[in-house]
Amino acid sequence: MMGQRVSLTRLAHEAITPALREGGKAVDATVGNGHDLAFLAAGVGAAGKVWGFDVQEQALTEARHRLPRELASRVTLLHAGHEQLGAHVDGPLDAVMFNLGYLPGGDHAVTTSAGTTMVALEAATSRLRSGGRMTVLAYTGHPGGDAESTAVEAWCKRLSANYRWQLLNPTPPTESTPRLYLVERV
Ligand SMILES: C[S@@+](CC[C@H](N)C(=O)[O-])C[C@H]1O[C@@H](n2cnc3c(N)ncnc32)[C@H](O)[C@@H]1O
Repeated sequence: MMGQRVSLTRLAHEAITPALREGGKAVDATVGNGHDLAFLAAGVGAAGKVWGFDVQEQALTEARHRLPRELASRVTLLHAGHEQLGAHVDGPLDAVMFNLGYLPGGDHAVTTSAGTTMVALEAATSRLRSGGRMTVLAYTGHPGGDAESTAVEAWCKRLSANYRWQLLNPTPPTESTPRLYLVERV
């Protein structure tokens, strides 16, 4: 599980990279340990902007401390659920990353959930620029995880022709493996 998390995280970064540009805007919808946050902040350059959401203040505090000093001024951290994205973020966005589930090494009872994730996915995709990209890494095997993962795929299938989506896993995922989705605005 842990190894899969790491390689799918790397795959997500590779998928997002073509959409990142100097002075761009991006969202880390689930800051957690801050790995995706640092990646996005590096990718938007000194004139760029990244919003990071998490419901755990402790995670945000630690992510802020881990962030290289030169990246801090381009990052706005919000102690709020990503379902509030629409109230805080203005587009057009180049990139959005969701890494769902619970924080490894943290409180496994605090997880994302299908209902609020759907609200956030809608708000994020509607703000993507043409060519903008979004990744969603969804996990099964924890309470609510199967339902959330199923909901994410069903949501992808309902996307309009303004978006392309694909499952990026290198091997077809089994019922218990995480799923990495890429959504791109055409
Ligand atoms: C798998 S971790 C994210 C890992 C992170 N991207 C990284 O690079 O370390 C999932 C995170 O989602 C957060 N979370 C749970 N519900 C949320 C919500 N409604 N909005 C934003 N974050 C949420 C959890 O607190 C947890 O830190």
